[in-house]
Amino acid sequence: MENTAVATINHLLKQFPVGGGFFTALNDVTLTFRKREFTGLVGPSGSGKTTLLNIIGGLDSPTEGTVNVLGKALDNTSHGERALLRRKHMGFIFQSYNLLPVYTVFENVELPLILNKVEEKERDEMVKEALEWVGLSDKINSRPAMLSGGECQRTAIARAIVHRPELVLADEPTANLDAENSHHIMEIMVKLNKELSTSFIFATHDEKIMAYLRRIIHLDDSQITEDEHIENPTGGPT
Ligand SMILES: Nc1ncnc2c1ncn2[C@@H]1O[C@H](COP(=O)(O)OP(=O)(O)O)[C@@H](O)[C@H]1O
Ligand SMILES: [Mg+2]
Repeated sequence: MENTAVATINHLLKQFPVGGGFFTALNDVTLTFRKREFTGLVGPSGSGKTTLLNIIGGLDSPTEGTVNVLGKALDNTSHGERALLRRKHMGFIFQSYNLLPVYTVFENVELPLILNKVEEKERDEMVKEALEWVGLSDKINSRPAMLSGGECQRTAIARAIVHRPELVLADEPTANLDAENSHHIMEIMVKLNKELSTSFIFATHDEKIMAYLRRIIHLDDSQITEDEHIENPTGGPT
């Protein structure tokens, strides 16, 4: 079981139409991500990291090649089926947090559970537990405008994991944070990975994130240049 694939990508090609031609964002990418992995897609800006995350998340589709996520072949699924797969089994964390400003911390984290039609009492317990995980139990009624950047990102993490997804996709999650908050955020995700067996795929060029990763997939110019496994990540501030 430990070795189960959470995502398999085969000979992926992604081209975007530009002008009269096209731009190749991903070129012949073949990868397998396994359960419990803590992996980063690392490479310079424009190397295709976000495009690859979006395709794994079913938010964008490949030009050629196949993508299998959590046992589903995405090219054979409808838009609705992909949305359901995301809602039930995946979590997303973005650089810009994407919290709803009129909602409290509690309500922001509760939203995925409402969409998944979880009963109120169970929702309440799950939200409180997720906020405990990220250390925000005392900010439950605050609105995003009253929070620091680190607290906003911790709220976004709680929202991404509240429904206990198998796979979390995080796109530059520390890009707006200072060093101390970045390390705190990474430590929370390492703990979720270890204790809940959540698989993580990051897109990043942040050195602070890289120190925590157990696998680094280097992307350059639309292709994989290296797939590196790290036995003992150094983690925390040195
Ligand atoms: N919708 C789009 N239309 C045209 N080009 C795009 C689109 N999305 C991304 N690209 C291009 O694809 C390349 C890879 O983008 P992206 O995956 O966002 O890179 P990264 O996240 O590594 O910075 C970039 O050159 C970008 O301009
Ligand atoms: Mg990007």
